Amino acid sequence: MKILWAITGAGHFLAESLSILENLALDDNIVTITTSKAADEVIQLYGFNEKIENIVSLNYENKHIKDEDQEFSYPLSGKLTHQKYDVIIIAPLTANSTAKIVHGIADTLITNIAAQSGKGQIPLIVLPVDQTPGLITTTIPPYIRKDRCVVHENCIPMRLCPNDAINPPYIDKSKCVSCHICKDICINDALVVDEKIELYIRKIDAQNTQKLSTIENIKTVYQPDKIVEYIKKIEKE
Ligand SMILES: Cc1cc2nc3c(=O)[nH]c(=O)nc-3n(C[C@H](O)[C@H](O)[C@H](O)COP(=O)(O)O)c2cc1C
Repeated sequence: MKILWAITGAGHFLAESLSILENLALDDNIVTITTSKAADEVIQLYGFNEKIENIVSLNYENKHIKDEDQEFSYPLSGKLTHQKYDVIIIAPLTANSTAKIVHGIADTLITNIAAQSGKGQIPLIVLPVDQTPGLITTTIPPYIRKDRCVVHENCIPMRLCPNDAINPPYIDKSKCVSCHICKDICINDALVVDEKIELYIRKIDAQNTQKLSTIENIKTVYQPDKIVEYIKKIEKE
């Protein structure tokens, strides 16, 4: 299948989404990855740049297209009206892009893709992050606690990082590949990896998510593994 996978700037469900995307690419599907400007930053913060590069390198027809490289009229999404793809997935989908999509705004690459998928009648599966009002637990990017970091030459995380990404008291996010080798090895407990925090989902964001289901052509899924289920359904049709 030819799959267009769009990523917006959400940390929530990012690792799970990339893992599903990687499996689809390993399964001989041809994938075009598109990223919003915020997604490029968030992907770097979580150390997933290399993962995206690896997915793209699996097939010479795979591509990564960034919002920042597009023209204002988004020529890529215009091509969607010519049925170039079998299915489009937006995962994860931020509260910001959800709000734009449900109000018919199409001023970024990803929200434009959502609008054009409807015009081209290509099935669109979305995985919104803000689902029900209330608290959710999410993982934040790795960081170094400056109040605990004692910069010294024998810093174990610095010596063991295979990508030279640890430069106490900072992590060079352009080099970090999220391998987590540095987890739990700092003697001062200054390096924080996989920290979970609680966030409050606002009613307005959850209401916008509900409105996604009222738009023709969009299938909303609430768990990452449901994406594969719906792709298989589309494949059989
Ligand atoms: C580390 C990090 C994680 C973020 N995670 C989320 C998230 O889980 N959900 C969300 O709606 N926004 C999240 N954001 C904020 C979005 O990136 C921001 O609202 C951005 O404007 C979204 O733009 P986009 O919808 O065009 O991608 C995060 C920002 C950062 C820096």
